[in-house]
Amino acid sequence: MKVLVTGGAGYVGSVVAAQLVAAGHEVVVLDDLSTGHRDAVPPGCTFVEGDVRDRAAEVLADGVAAVLHFAAKSIVPESVAHPELYWGGNVGVSLALLEAMRSTGVRRIVFSSTAAVYGEPERVPIREDAPVRPTNPYGATKAAIDAALTEHARMHGIGAVSLRYFNVAGAQDGRGERHATETHLVPLVLQVALGGRESVSLFGTDYPTPDGTCVRDYIHVADLAEAHLLALDHCVPGRHRIYNLGNGAGFSVRQVVEVCRAVTGHPIPVVPADRRPGDPAALVASGERARAELGWRPRRSELATIIADAWAFHSGGPRAEAAAARPAGGR
Ligand code: UFG
Repeated sequence: MKVLVTGGAGYVGSVVAAQLVAAGHEVVVLDDLSTGHRDAVPPGCTFVEGDVRDRAAEVLADGVAAVLHFAAKSIVPESVAHPELYWGGNVGVSLALLEAMRSTGVRRIVFSSTAAVYGEPERVPIREDAPVRPTNPYGATKAAIDAALTEHARMHGIGAVSLRYFNVAGAQDGRGERHATETHLVPLVLQVALGGRESVSLFGTDYPTPDGTCVRDYIHVADLAEAHLLALDHCVPGRHRIYNLGNGAGFSVRQVVEVCRAVTGHPIPVVPADRRPGDPAALVASGERARAELGWRPRRSELATIIADAWAFHSGGPRAEAAAARPAGGR
């Protein structure tokens, strides 16, 4: 099948694009390279550089059967500081994509949503029927897009699947996290082990959690990516289905640092700091629906495996190989 991957030069999008190529799909990546990297686009993909709002209709009209939509801004603290960037860059772009799908008759979409839509949950693990009450603009924009997908399924007969990611980490085949300004915990902790920073700040040590630091559900990017390929087969016309993607196990910031120490052999000093605005205390997924309906089985769910793969990427090996790999065909 020919598929469009928006944001396929980014972290999750590029890993999914590589798995789609490996599964025999014809993949077109559309990315404006605002945060993605040209060399992350997997060999075998056609690469189109540009904004979804300008280029999606023309790409879709060229025989595309389904869309996997990753192109978005995804940094929680940035969204708190500049919400307008998120309403335009996430909601505006997604509505334009849905309009392009409507005008070209493409009716299947898998959307990259987030656990941030739930805000501070009443119960963990979080199920898909939990109230949507985001505590930051990033989560609010993704919740708005989920709502738009429900309406488009009802009114226009598209088949949509939203995948709500918990905390993605790790790497596959030389594709890992590479943000110009890094804010995510795992890469920041590993930067300390690499000598790029002196210590890690613990953003809040007085949360109502066992050790006072925030608890998150970490999921390997390769497992996460596999769920997208399964979701493609579950885009049923007229239906919008939502799935949480997590391992169902929570780890505190201190526990993540501890595992990073074990994996890297570096002492990784920590410094207590103020809470970061917009952070919920604990986010842990119930992955039951994804397992039951998609048949999804995370295979790399140990935190030590996730961190070891991230470490291999950041400390050089696979990343250097990826940089040396043959570039994808452009147009
Ligand atoms: N943290 C620190 N120190 C740091 C960086 C992060 O203590 O230097 C803490 C944060 O405060 C948070 C935890 O580590 O408690 C994880 O923070 P990340 O920035 O790595 O990730 P978030 O939980 O903020 O957000 C991520 C994704 C979102 C997604 C969310 C869902 O970026 O898209 O997970 O769980 F919605």
